[in-house]
Amino acid sequence: MTAETFRTIWLDADDPSVVKIIDQRLLPHEFKLHDLGSWQDAETAIADMYVRGAPLIGATAAWGLYLAALESPESVAMHAVADRLLAARPTAVNLRWAIERIMRVVDAHAGGELADEIRRDAQAICDEDVEISRGIGEHGVALLEAIAARKPGEPVNVLTHCNAGALATINYGTATAPVYIAQQRGIDVHVWVDETRPRNQGSQLTAWELAQSGVPHTLIVDNAGGHLMQHGLVDIVIVGTDRTTRCGDVANKIGTYLKALAAFDNDIPFYVGLPSTTIDWRSCDGVAEIPIEERDAEEVSHVHGMREGAPTMVRTTAPGTPISNYAFDVTPARLVTGLITERGICAASEDGLLGLFPEMRDRS
Ligand code: MRU
Repeated sequence: MTAETFRTIWLDADDPSVVKIIDQRLLPHEFKLHDLGSWQDAETAIADMYVRGAPLIGATAAWGLYLAALESPESVAMHAVADRLLAARPTAVNLRWAIERIMRVVDAHAGGELADEIRRDAQAICDEDVEISRGIGEHGVALLEAIAARKPGEPVNVLTHCNAGALATINYGTATAPVYIAQQRGIDVHVWVDETRPRNQGSQLTAWELAQSGVPHTLIVDNAGGHLMQHGLVDIVIVGTDRTTRCGDVANKIGTYLKALAAFDNDIPFYVGLPSTTIDWRSCDGVAEIPIEERDAEEVSHVHGMREGAPTMVRTTAPGTPISNYAFDVTPARLVTGLITERGICAASEDGLLGLFPEMRDRS
């Protein structure tokens, strides 16, 4: 997965009107590529979670705007497409970040082929994301090295939630990047993978990609984390994030907050892999200000799997059971030991983040 050449999204080398993605809905049962031939395809891929994970959602929107410009490069039409893409999923702030970045190209455009300019920037977003993830890995691995030094001959046990791996980014991931770098450096590392109901990003994506890379891991149900922590079986929790406020509150997949509470109670460090593209400099109080996506009840009432070689949906609830399906929650900064960014590790606070990103001082 983390081979230099691995990417989760790319422009078709033979047909520049097609963007290629992995249809993540089919993993781990089938590895199938899917073609995006229009901005509507990109919108569907984001909303219906063919692609997911904050950085990959942003990159997909950028490529969606490229596909829109191929079709109709007029500014009015481009702004309408940007609005539609922005509404595809509300929580991951990378979506807004990527769309605003591409729309600056649109608004500054003065002749020549708009699509060519957007293509270059969409490609740059992807290339930069790989370097950002690698940076998170290079900084975060120091935490794993320090734990390894304290328990020679034993594995470093990392617990993670959802999929903040290579599949959620362009490569390497955010929460998983320190793990992949640790593996490259020969550190004995083992990952507890939360199943992550209802969409099972842990069991279907994280476990799959760790297996592809040969990283030792064990799948657990979402409620097992506290028990493992009480018994000394977790050294560190590392999760990703869909939006982190400038004050350090962290929105991530539903259930992350409960892991942070359990980690706090057991004195276990709780870190967040945080690309700078996921920082919402306009928000401070995450609980009050971050929009939390509510998804279809069917994600809760049904489970998706394989039966006799064919994909199947199975209903596990009585028909008509009232259901709510909040996709994300917010972990307050006070429960976060630190943020691992591409520029280093900092406290989950405005001062901590501005220390690493001083150029944002006037913009927050
Ligand atoms: O609903 P998803 O699968 O898009 O949620 C993804 C997560 O919550 C990830 O942990 C987060 O986006 C970080 S990805 C590097």
